[in-house]
Amino acid sequence: MIELCKLPYAYAALEPVISAETMTFHHDKHHAAYVKKANDLAAKAGLDDLSVEELVVQAKAQGDTKLYNNAAQVWNHGFFWQSMTGDSAKPSGDLASAIDASFGDLASLKTTFVEAGVGHFGAGWVWLAAVGDQLKVVSTHDADDLLTASGDVPLIVCDLWEHAYYLDHQNDREAFLKSWFDKLANWDFAAQQFMAARAGEPGYSYPAMADQSA
Ligand SMILES: [Fe+2]
Repeated sequence: MIELCKLPYAYAALEPVISAETMTFHHDKHHAAYVKKANDLAAKAGLDDLSVEELVVQAKAQGDTKLYNNAAQVWNHGFFWQSMTGDSAKPSGDLASAIDASFGDLASLKTTFVEAGVGHFGAGWVWLAAVGDQLKVVSTHDADDLLTASGDVPLIVCDLWEHAYYLDHQNDREAFLKSWFDKLANWDFAAQQFMAARAGEPGYSYPAMADQSA
């Protein structure tokens, strides 16, 4: 069994870029629905004792598209919640150096990230990822994740599904992405992920049920 992970902040913590109304629907309805469907499908497949990470990998390996889509969306949303903060501070230390080395500076990374998100056709995700010390921006379609898609370690992600921004920004994905990057990106989390990537460690893992009882 997997569980709907708790938000690491209040529903209104990301306003005005993302309203409490959007966060409530996004977490309590969309994310919750992926959790329920993933649990139902995992139980039918006899895979209900797996972690979310194991479930994503196993469903993909077995070609179980429905289970994969729902399990990957569970994981992607858990990672997305961590990728944001209401107290966004600029990147520092090794992460800032890596951003400068890979993109030139933070403003150039922003341009690349926003362009990738705006240019992405339909639903999906835009990621900042690390391959060793190198950083890159990639987008994935629908539920596609970075756990199974490549050797890239995700640092942060932004949700490109319309449910992530439509109530607050209507069709203006570009305005959403620019504000998201400037005001919500959680660079402390990205730095932790970058450290894990360079140490060859897995980094973020979706909370198990026992982790959330505290
Ligand atoms: Fe979403």
